[in-house]
Amino acid sequence: MIDQRLLPRDLVVVSLDTYQEVADAIKTMVVRGAPAIGAAAAFGLALAARSSAAHDLPGLRADLQQAAEVLKSTRPTAVNLAWALKRMLAVAETDAISPSGMADRLLTEAQAIADEDVATNQKMARCGAGLIEDGDTIIHHCNTGSLATVDWGTALGVIRMAHQMGKHIHVLVDETRPRLQGARLTAWELGQYGIPYDIISDGAAGYFLSRGLAQKVFFGADRVTARGDVANKVGSYMLALAAHDNRVPVYAVFPISTVDFSLQNGEDIPIEEREAGEVLDIEVRGVKVVPEGASARNPAFDVTPHRLLTGWVTERGVIWPPFEGAFVQPYQAQP
Ligand code: MRU
Repeated sequence: MIDQRLLPRDLVVVSLDTYQEVADAIKTMVVRGAPAIGAAAAFGLALAARSSAAHDLPGLRADLQQAAEVLKSTRPTAVNLAWALKRMLAVAETDAISPSGMADRLLTEAQAIADEDVATNQKMARCGAGLIEDGDTIIHHCNTGSLATVDWGTALGVIRMAHQMGKHIHVLVDETRPRLQGARLTAWELGQYGIPYDIISDGAAGYFLSRGLAQKVFFGADRVTARGDVANKVGSYMLALAAHDNRVPVYAVFPISTVDFSLQNGEDIPIEEREAGEVLDIEVRGVKVVPEGASARNPAFDVTPHRLLTGWVTERGVIWPPFEGAFVQPYQAQP
């Protein structure tokens, strides 16, 4: 996987050999973005099967359960992680093959998850691109592109598809404090695709929205409840509020695997709080900015209530309110 912490300065591909290394890579955000960590965890479980010393299937299944717990505990908000692991474990529970055969079977399943992600994202991109008009300026939050998925991306995939269709668009890239996924990763991706952009500080979005200088807001999702509340990178809620106040449409783009059908209310989504150092360790020209001993809070996500969203873009099409009831089929593992 690409070590996303080093971009855009260095493009470094790292190789991971154990599920513990994969868990660490997810936790430390070598890999990040909801679908990308789901696929990474799936490959992690395949590695766990390969390294298991179990001689029989019950022993292997116990090892896989334990590895899945470690992988799942890395980041609590994005439901794709739990979704992918559940799908992998369902294969391990139902396929009665030898332990070595199971390692191959799980690798095939992980690859299927990765391949399906790309196909799903391309479908979403085609569904969402129709929402973008020639000449639009779009505000985008965090990084939702090829880096955040296996390829293509969610919200950024929609933007890329619209550009590929020949629409003239401009993107205002929220820098996305504190880890700067927008300024570092989204700007880097847009540069690769040749899509014109300006990076803006997160607080500037309200200015552009209130002056009629942005026509659409697009972001991704880490977990969506059955009624359409959307957990996404912290700052998405304030962006949606400002857009709503200025009657600018807000679209969340995500695959069905991001919907948590067990939750209704977005307030019940677990929100990861990361270390304060991500907020405090700011240096300008090599000088630390905050006072010595300063403390900080660092929620990594927030929840945009369904009432602030104009539409939800999925691989099955664009859902207009109400979201609830539009989906009745959560993912079912193959028997
Ligand atoms: O903390 P991150 O960088 O993993 O957060 C990622 C986001 O919030 C994305 O917007 C989200 O995963 C949806 S796009 C794939």
